Amino acid sequence: MSNPLKIAALVSGSGSNLQVMIDGMQAGRLPIQIVGVISNNADAYANTRTTQAGIELALLSHTQSGKRMSMATFEKHALAQIQDWSPDLVVLAGFMRVLSADFIESVPCPIINLHPSLLPHYKGLNTHARVLASGERYHGCSVHLVTAELDAGKVLTQANLATHAGETADQLAKRVQRLEHQLVPLTLTMMASGLIDAVNTSNSQIDLPLRLWFD
Ligand code: GRF
Repeated sequence: MSNPLKIAALVSGSGSNLQVMIDGMQAGRLPIQIVGVISNNADAYANTRTTQAGIELALLSHTQSGKRMSMATFEKHALAQIQDWSPDLVVLAGFMRVLSADFIESVPCPIINLHPSLLPHYKGLNTHARVLASGERYHGCSVHLVTAELDAGKVLTQANLATHAGETADQLAKRVQRLEHQLVPLTLTMMASGLIDAVNTSNSQIDLPLRLWFD
């Protein structure tokens, strides 16, 4: 097997996608090494998942005086931490703040994000409710490169599903989340093996985006 892909993850919330990465790494199913996790939320369950797995957690939510950290301060510390860990890839695994162009350009490796829609459609928040309100027949999730423009970087992979008549946004969100839990490990495996080259996407050995149907 090729060298594991060294990953730093940024999280804000539940961290179910982080857990999928941790499980795959620990079971030897995924060719990755999570070198550290940065959280901007002291209450995030992702923090517990990180420490329970014995992975280094950098909690950057408040300053020493107890004040909530500004985004600029968060980015300054997060960049220093990433430089220290020196990962091959940064994964935004449910990171809920918008990163500045300066930060994105300063990070010395590609950054990918998981977004709950079939980009370029439905950028931003509340995707499931908006998809249902528009009567879309199809929905899904995307893994894309992070650039300064929100949810607009090159799409690497997508997983599609058909919407069901009468389903609620919560039901749809749960089905999309199950897709995410399959799409993330698949995408990381393809990156680790070189099938997808995130540094120079035109060097990838497959046509991007890779579009998959899971149900
Ligand atoms: C996912 O639905 C992802 O699409 C979005 O944030 C959510 C994170 O969920 N960017 P979790 O924290 O991995 O459970």
